[in-house]
Amino acid sequence: MNLQTIEPVLSFKNSQVPTGVVGWESPSNIALVKYWGKRDVQIPCNPSISFTLSKSVSRTKVSYRPAESGNYEIEFYLDGVRTEKFEEKIHTFFRTIRPLCPFIDQLRFRIDSSNTFPHSAGIASSASGMSALALCIADIERKHLDSLLSEKAFFQKASLLARLGSGSACRSVYGGLVIWGEVEGMPQTSNEYGVKLDEPIHEVFKSYKDSILIVDAAEKKVSSRAGHGLMKTNPFSAERFAQAGRNIQALIAAIRTGDLDMFIKLTELEALTLHAMMMTSDPYFLLMRPNTLSIIEKIFDFRQQTGLPVCFTLDAGPNVHLLYPQRHEQEIKSFIANDLAVHLHNGFYIDDQVGTGPNEI
Ligand code: PMV
Repeated sequence: MNLQTIEPVLSFKNSQVPTGVVGWESPSNIALVKYWGKRDVQIPCNPSISFTLSKSVSRTKVSYRPAESGNYEIEFYLDGVRTEKFEEKIHTFFRTIRPLCPFIDQLRFRIDSSNTFPHSAGIASSASGMSALALCIADIERKHLDSLLSEKAFFQKASLLARLGSGSACRSVYGGLVIWGEVEGMPQTSNEYGVKLDEPIHEVFKSYKDSILIVDAAEKKVSSRAGHGLMKTNPFSAERFAQAGRNIQALIAAIRTGDLDMFIKLTELEALTLHAMMMTSDPYFLLMRPNTLSIIEKIFDFRQQTGLPVCFTLDAGPNVHLLYPQRHEQEIKSFIANDLAVHLHNGFYIDDQVGTGPNEI
């Protein structure tokens, strides 16, 4: 009999509902080609690619035991403090993944999570947090219900679950460069889950640096969810989705060959296009701050004067991700200290770089 064709049983027999604990640490990621606009259940309107980071991680421990009611029960603690705001998000996430993991209804969960980056840094923890939680849920399934699950299928399922929690989280399940969304000519890519970019990848991109410059730590006024929704009526959306499809092809080519000029051009174009979409939505909104623009102009000047291959990207907020090859670390650190620190919230930045992906803890 071919074991591959056996559908796993995804619920426990009544007498066998387990007690246990699993834990995963998962990093945040920064998109180079941006996902902005979705349809159906978290299906992206265009493919995206990101660097998984190294130091900016969420650590999540899930303790589980038989539920007393017929439904899952959740207690969520952030840094040891029960946090209802996130508990609600996790309820929504569990409701979404229930058909894929019916066993969750038989369990009572205590979820303990913490982030290595300060909560007040204005960095969204949804990618790292949802990825870590999805890995824990997939791990419970693997441990008790589907021990034949291959390594590949395990991470694929975790990525799919993570996507249902927060789209970009599905890319945090792997290290290095990760693609989410169907890319023409790459049949392994999927709208349902992330896949690691295969070799060849030029050496320079295996240790690329990301200094996350904190411009403003306040919670943003428009959520990503609302921003994605506004792409449905943005008059430029169709062309934007087509452009992202072209940009990802060209960016992958640059990553394979080590073409830094092309990498810089496409990465900055993507960042500014993301924000252009915000500014041309109805209602329009602006997430860049005056210091965001001051920093961008200084990066343009510095690059022109020094010839160093440093560029920026932005996520859905005012903070600037400064991207550069590791070999230029010293020059860029001086640039930050001498020219950029004045624009930062308390002079604060996070010195991060491409990482190897999640770890079991
Ligand atoms: O995953 P979400 O829904 O938080 O959206 C992420 C959107 C961007 O960070 C702006 C782009 C991306 O691809 O990560």
